[in-house]
Amino acid sequence: MEKIEKVAREAALRAGELQKSRVGKVKSLDYKSAFNIVTDVDKASEALIIETIKASFPHDAFLAEESGAESGKQESERRWIIDPLDGTTNFAHSYPFFCVSIGVEEKGEMVLGVVYNAIASEIFVASRGQGATLNGEKISVSNRTTLDTSLLATGFPPDTLKSVHHNMDSFRTITNMCHGVRRDGSAALDLCFVASGRLDGFWERKLAPWDVAAGSLIVREAGGKVTNLEDGPLDMASGHILATNGKIHDEVVKALAHSIAAK
Ligand code: IPD
Ligand code: CA
Ligand code: CA
Repeated sequence: MEKIEKVAREAALRAGELQKSRVGKVKSLDYKSAFNIVTDVDKASEALIIETIKASFPHDAFLAEESGAESGKQESERRWIIDPLDGTTNFAHSYPFFCVSIGVEEKGEMVLGVVYNAIASEIFVASRGQGATLNGEKISVSNRTTLDTSLLATGFPPDTLKSVHHNMDSFRTITNMCHGVRRDGSAALDLCFVASGRLDGFWERKLAPWDVAAGSLIVREAGGKVTNLEDGPLDMASGHILATNGKIHDEVVKALAHSIAAK
């Protein structure tokens, strides 16, 4: 695991530094759909990450946002799940809240998560059973026990209002039940903020595996709870996720159910 962590850190740091150097200098911006953008820096970051990993682990499998799935040689059974730049919209507007997210799965289980925010020089790392760290210091989720004293975050799919999963009802309901609900635009960093106690909870619908792979392990290793929105097991393919400090989890599950039922 030491070598895997070293390589994951190195890949995240290299891509993060590239992103930092390119803020405000986007060369090309394409649309995946009406409001879902991708820049040359997303693609360059992903190439750099994969090149760095392949130099040490040429037989591994990959699932990466911009280049898709690549199967590895069977003997490896390891898969790297990569969001090269989580928070592309922020990045494209020079809004300083974006990161690199790299998760490593072995035999279907997340074993390592690395999330790097180059602008803040913050690297979040968790390795299964070893706890979670921020810049090498142990982190843990908050101790808040009630929703009405909590700060949460959420996000919205790029096709927000057209989607049945548009999340506006839940956003309105929960905003009225707590200190506030932030929408910062990087799901991986939102999860790390839950892990480090800056947020007490985060939920979102329709995320992709690369948005949550690393961050979900980091929350769990920091003592938090990660499920789907109904308190069932997280399914990275459906991407409906609720991550909290554990103590407010049931309250948020109930509030989400109420917001949907009240539609
Ligand atoms: C997006 C961010 C955002 C979330 C979107 C994601 P991207 O990822 O994580 O916070 O609300 O649903 O698609 O496109 O910037 O990698
Ligand atoms: Ca993402
Ligand atoms: Ca991305």
